Amino acid sequence: MMDWTDRHCRFFLRLLSREALLYTEMVTTGAILHGDAARFLRYDAAEHPLALQLGGSNPQELAACARLAEQAGYDEVNLNVGCPSDRVQNNMIGACLMGHPALVAECVKAMQDAVSIPVTVKHRIGINGRDSYAELCDFVGQVCEAGCRSFTVHARIAILEGLSPKENREIPPLRYDVAAQLKRDFSDLEIILNGGIKTLDECREHLRTFDGVMLGREAYHNPYLLAAVDRELFGRDTPQVSRSEALQGLRPYIERHLAEGGAMHHVTRHVLGLAQGFPGARCFRQLLSVDVHKTTDPLGLLDQAIELLQGR
Ligand SMILES: Cc1cc2nc3c(=O)[nH]c(=O)nc-3n(C[C@H](O)[C@H](O)[C@H](O)COP(=O)(O)O)c2cc1C
Repeated sequence: MMDWTDRHCRFFLRLLSREALLYTEMVTTGAILHGDAARFLRYDAAEHPLALQLGGSNPQELAACARLAEQAGYDEVNLNVGCPSDRVQNNMIGACLMGHPALVAECVKAMQDAVSIPVTVKHRIGINGRDSYAELCDFVGQVCEAGCRSFTVHARIAILEGLSPKENREIPPLRYDVAAQLKRDFSDLEIILNGGIKTLDECREHLRTFDGVMLGREAYHNPYLLAAVDRELFGRDTPQVSRSEALQGLRPYIERHLAEGGAMHHVTRHVLGLAQGFPGARCFRQLLSVDVHKTTDPLGLLDQAIELLQGR
């Protein structure tokens, strides 16, 4: 998620779950090929399993970026066909590509030919003017013919004129039934459900129909939810990390970041939801979102925040 799941956020989330697949923010092919590729591709080895999400629609450029992703050690490369922002539409990136299934198929084929890691697609169930089930099947059909075996379906359409990206995550109704029909009609494909999922009970229920679930906003705002997924969804026998242990685990990473000249809030802005639901939550947020900008002893402040979570 843009501006949210940067490498600091992912390092933190990985302390909560060993198993969940994490995704980068969308990175455009232009940013990688004409910008600071090393910065956009940077991650910590602890973040695996990790997918790089690309935005673009030029097959050769996407293939070149997929190759760089594989060389950098990413486990998967994902093409964004779901982002509704005007900015990306003008560059033929994101959800508008649902209107161009043959081009998406060409992109996927070029990426697939360039790498041996999985090439996956994240998309909507349609866009305004192209939102029938037959058109969705046409899209998935063409892209799967090109070699894509895994589709992450944000189960609402995107309305490409008149709604902000935020509204496009809230206003078009969720249609899990449409995604479920897709899974029935393309039963050989991996179909991962996304959109509006908030609890592990819901995940468990959806996993009866789908091959996977993807959580966006809830995983960010209530990250401790991830602490139970290894046991409850992946069936692993590992003990669940406590909130304070997770934050303590982040301390050496923050120390390294400070030593490189970074600021603590670059990292701690992503942990503000960790105390959600506790009496100390307000104080915790205050420490890490306000006081953090004034302190001369960031690690001392972090230790106070860890103490607030102790035993939780
Ligand atoms: C701040 C923000 C940034 C997002 N950036 C991306 C992105 O870069 N790529 C993407 O595929 N989806 C992005 N999304 C959409 C989410 O991945 C997800 O599809 C959507 O929020 C619905 O799932 P949820 O209800 O679990 O959040 C973003 C969402 C938010 C809130």
